Amino acid sequence: MKLQRVLQYAQFLLKETVETGDIVVDATAGNGYDTTFLAQLVGENGHVFAFDVQQQAIESTNKRLTEVGMANRVSTILDGHENVAQYVQQPISAAIFNLGYLPGSEHQIITKPNTTLQAIESLLKLLKVGGMIVLVVYYGHEGGKEERDQVIEYVSNLPQKKVHVLRYEFINQKNDPPFIIALEKVAEITNK
Ligand SMILES: C[S@@+](CC[C@H](N)C(=O)[O-])C[C@H]1O[C@@H](n2cnc3c(N)ncnc32)[C@H](O)[C@@H]1O
Repeated sequence: MKLQRVLQYAQFLLKETVETGDIVVDATAGNGYDTTFLAQLVGENGHVFAFDVQQQAIESTNKRLTEVGMANRVSTILDGHENVAQYVQQPISAAIFNLGYLPGSEHQIITKPNTTLQAIESLLKLLKVGGMIVLVVYYGHEGGKEERDQVIEYVSNLPQKKVHVLRYEFINQKNDPPFIIALEKVAEITNK
């Protein structure tokens, strides 16, 4: 297969962007798969800040990181990604989101449009020029389509000279398959 699957492509984009020693953010730690992937990419001298609002997600992320011996390069934070600026002050090279609910848990705890947009806005400020934010958008659950639409509207209006915005999607798959939105910062964003 020449076309990468959605999750493969998300990891490919992160791999292309992140270098050892970088600081990066996992905005939705969940079971910690992406956190672990990012921890590998940043290496011993880099750092990952991983957020989730569920204790269960933070515990399973911590467990996975301990198993692979990478817990010391990750700060897991039991708080919403909309508060990222309270925890991360350094420039980051990448961030990833998986929108939706944690597989195998309560489906009521989902990412929400307002907080997702607040987080994207804060992360765009923290992002270095050349850095990337990757969103894997799951929208099949209740409330998912509203979030998808608001995210698309927000990112479609980002200034094209500052941020390149990509949508990567298989358009003939059934059952609301996830797609990717990738934001590559190409110039510093000022408030003017
Ligand atoms: C689709 S799951 C993430 C899957 C994860 N990347 C993995 O590898 O398992 C979405 C996660 O976002 C979390 N979440 C919901 N609202 C959040 C918020 N405001 N800030 C941070 N995490 C949030 C949920 O608790 C859930 O664990």
